[in-house]
Amino acid sequence: MSTVNQKPWILGISGASGQQYAVSLLRHLLFLLDDLVLVISEDAKKIIMDECAHKDLGSDKDGWIHFLVNDSYPGVYSLTQIGERYRGQTKKCRLTLVWNHEMFSSVASGSFRTSGMVVVPASLATLGKLAQGITDNVLLRASEVCLKENRSLILVPRETPLSLSALENLLQLKKAGAQILPAMPAFYHRPQVVEDIVEFISGKICNLMDLNHRALAAWEP
Ligand SMILES: Cc1cc2nc3c(=O)[nH]c(=O)nc-3n(C[C@H](O)[C@H](O)[C@H](O)COP(=O)(O)O)c2cc1C
Repeated sequence: MSTVNQKPWILGISGASGQQYAVSLLRHLLFLLDDLVLVISEDAKKIIMDECAHKDLGSDKDGWIHFLVNDSYPGVYSLTQIGERYRGQTKKCRLTLVWNHEMFSSVASGSFRTSGMVVVPASLATLGKLAQGITDNVLLRASEVCLKENRSLILVPRETPLSLSALENLLQLKKAGAQILPAMPAFYHRPQVVEDIVEFISGKICNLMDLNHRALAAWEP
């Protein structure tokens, strides 16, 4: 497994519960990647403010990046705590934030070559649109680009129970080439705190990204 990635990855965050999964993964990726583009949907912004921030973050990109990277809240290990696991590795990732309506951004084009994309958490609304080829925002368009260009697309739904349409959409997306990684934490690593449960999913995602990570899922299988 490699820790160096020449081409950027895209991290899409849509409006489902479990925004801690996205923040935890983001903090690990800052130590693992050279280049990361973050796309956040409008409903994800609202749910992040409700579940994590407990305040209005507005729409200032620097403020959002500072919050997602640096602030501490229950459910996600801090950047310092995660950084201690990557002793000897310099944090070097270039992080770019794109709002979901910015359709003229580079990630909306297949010409912008990437290693792939993770959507976490992936709402059923986003999955349903993607399964039908509806790409009317940046997150959906970038996901569709991954499918059409045969690039890695890792989708992390967070919903339970699942309706027939949700299951059919997931099957359709799997057939189209996406990898489906439901946010289903395990307990064989004996989690002590919520942060451990959340981080298990980050580790599973990093496994699919083929990254030599230090998230819990790799430590104690
Ligand atoms: C507080 C809250 C929690 C939600 N949690 C989920 C969820 O866990 N899974 C899901 O599929 N949708 C969830 N939704 C519904 C989506 O946010 C909604 O379908 C939205 O249109 C998704 O838009 P997006 O995919 O563009 O972000 C939630 C909505 C709210 C307000």
